[in-house]
Amino acid sequence: MTAPLKNSDPIIVDVALGERAYDIVIGRGVLQSLGARIAALRPGVRTAVVTDRTVARHWLEPAEASLAAAGIPTSRIVVEEGEISKTYAGLEKVSEALIAAMIERNDLVVALGGGVVGDLAGFAAAILRRGVDFVQVPTSLLAQVDSSVGGKTGINSPQGKNLLGAFHQPVLVIADTAVLDTLSPRQFRAGYAEVAKYGVLGDAAFFTWLEKNHADIFKGGSAREHAIATSCRAKAGVVSRDERETGERALLNLGHTFGHALEAATGFSDRLFHGEGVAIGMVLAAEFSAKLGMIGQADAARVERHLAEAGLPTHLQDIAGFAQEGLADADALMALMAQDKKVKRGRLAFILLEAIGCAVVAKDVEPSLVRDFLKEKLGEKPARKA
Ligand code: GLY
Repeated sequence: MTAPLKNSDPIIVDVALGERAYDIVIGRGVLQSLGARIAALRPGVRTAVVTDRTVARHWLEPAEASLAAAGIPTSRIVVEEGEISKTYAGLEKVSEALIAAMIERNDLVVALGGGVVGDLAGFAAAILRRGVDFVQVPTSLLAQVDSSVGGKTGINSPQGKNLLGAFHQPVLVIADTAVLDTLSPRQFRAGYAEVAKYGVLGDAAFFTWLEKNHADIFKGGSAREHAIATSCRAKAGVVSRDERETGERALLNLGHTFGHALEAATGFSDRLFHGEGVAIGMVLAAEFSAKLGMIGQADAARVERHLAEAGLPTHLQDIAGFAQEGLADADALMALMAQDKKVKRGRLAFILLEAIGCAVVAKDVEPSLVRDFLKEKLGEKPARKA
């Protein structure tokens, strides 16, 4: 059911990137202000809204109505839902449609959707006529707290996730928390993994707050807004200090080296959503940190307990079809990790923990240690039903 949009005072988070600075506008009902905000930012602009079929059903009309009310001409480009669109074919479809819609250098692409739509439309905007500006209107929790902020855009290669892309910052992010009401519980939970990530990697007090308040975030209301704004502030801070990921930004990849390998091993399918892979990956990173003596077992168990309480998968054995070829095989997972963008000259880089709230980049991790750790984890008995 489509939730009614209600107005509330938005929270504005600034992404301080000099002449490419932009606002993240967070609040219930802020989608209604899309047209007015774009008109104020870029008078006389034309737009093309890129979205997917499911999001279009719920939110395309309100978005178009807001653009029309502000006198902004717009066209729509609707792609298939899911990673199937984050491909060469998906990029071709969106790029050709943008050209056909006469989107010119001074116009704007509007990405209305989750992480896939944001990454795809953002990348198409980055390369169209050598670069057209775009606005992110994230409609999943994961996109609101992570992928819509920071300018990472791209598509997958058959050989690995996000291997083709560009840094291209949006000029505005509109995160309407009411649109999250139409997400399935599983999609919402998957996005929650990225919220918890900000606590685990850099903010122990936020992690403790999440342990107490996570149920309220799932229900909606002010806890949800606080969690999204805190996550966006954390991300905006990191991005403004290290836009191109030469240092600190790599910490945002906590859980992603393991997680991306698991997503690849499950064929980027519904067997494992990105956030679910990140949840399992975060637990593996915490447990690997404990194995290396960097944190105590109790801290690793605390990370696992919180994510499990939020209903997320936390063990390899929680993945549907775990026993299938490729997934239960440490060497196959190692081969998939070798394709990760964080690999430098064949050496694995991991984000590990020195404490809850203190992540570090561990460069040059000895592969045999990772392989032995994975073999150990793969040998464990299923802890919970998949
Ligand atoms: N999702 C990690 C980053 O934006 O750097």
